[in-house]
Amino acid sequence: MTQKNCYILGIESSCDDTAAAVIHNGEILSNVVATQAIHEQYGGVVPELASRAHQQNIVPVVHQALRKANIDKNQLSAIAFTRGPGLMGSLLVGTSFSKSLALGLDIPLIDVNHMQAHILAHFIKTQEQTAPNFPFLAMTISGGHTQIVKVTDYFEMEIIGQTIDDAVGEAFDKSAKILGLPYPGGPLVDKYAQEGNPKAFKFPKPKVGPMDFSFSGLKTSVLYFVEKEMNQNPDFISENIADICASIQFTIVDYLMDKLKNAVKKTGIKEVAIGGGVSANSGIRNALKEAEKKYGWKTHIPKFEFCTDNAAMIAIVGELKYKSQEFAENNVVASARMKF
Ligand code: KG4
Ligand code: ZN
Repeated sequence: MTQKNCYILGIESSCDDTAAAVIHNGEILSNVVATQAIHEQYGGVVPELASRAHQQNIVPVVHQALRKANIDKNQLSAIAFTRGPGLMGSLLVGTSFSKSLALGLDIPLIDVNHMQAHILAHFIKTQEQTAPNFPFLAMTISGGHTQIVKVTDYFEMEIIGQTIDDAVGEAFDKSAKILGLPYPGGPLVDKYAQEGNPKAFKFPKPKVGPMDFSFSGLKTSVLYFVEKEMNQNPDFISENIADICASIQFTIVDYLMDKLKNAVKKTGIKEVAIGGGVSANSGIRNALKEAEKKYGWKTHIPKFEFCTDNAAMIAIVGELKYKSQEFAENNVVASARMKF
């Protein structure tokens, strides 16, 4: 098998999605995700349950990815897996499985940093998306992450801003929970926001470093605001759900855009790529489109299936590393706090 004509299996298990994908020459042949519904009733991810669900899901998910790609496991050139960062119990499942499979098939093992993978997902070949040009700024926004990264080459990345507490997805989900919406509430806040007035209520934007984020205060101000209003009118939430959601979303999106603007100003880089589950949000998508017109930015938003946690992004990193023969040793261990 030449290094150009390779089939790489990617495996992702860092949080609550068990995922496997096959990539061939930059094109995704299959991208399978088993999302764990078990956490919904707890309003957030329960690490021990996530680890157990990964153990149940990983074999069928990998089988399905191979079947959809229409290849046999013996055709695989290498196995790429998420080594970190993430929940230790979850990472261990993907790591142990990948090590055993690579050993059994006698093919190389490639370790992948989940955060780099969110960014490099922009290099998956699709008809809809064009890859960013180096250097560019990447903002990763999800339930687990909020970062702005300066990307000068595939594996040359520098974090220039990040959250000091909650991730932006948590800000959406925790605010939604206060409003009585089910987990994960982000997509519902977005749905209601589209019917509401974004200026109806005002929430504070926490002051931290110019490119850093803080979201823990937002949920507290939403809580105090709602409690106060409910004292006057017990039906306040149901009567104002669209305006409340629109105002929360406006605050969050405006805050994200402030930070991006600061990063563009600081670095002089006007090419901006976003990733992570919150990239699905209509508010941030519209704000980026507007920034293209208003400030001359070039923006990139990947297909939704490559934004949320997925294995296609692990597979593309696997392919890039396979080409430069960057393989992991078989004694590689999972790393919950893996850095770039
Ligand atoms: O990337 P992801 O699937 O998983 C990780 O957290 O890594 O992101 C999930 C997060 C959740 O917090 C969810 O509420 C949020 O992305 N999300 C949204 C939207 N769609 C997903 N938040 C706001 N608006 C949306 N449309
Ligand atoms: Zn992620």
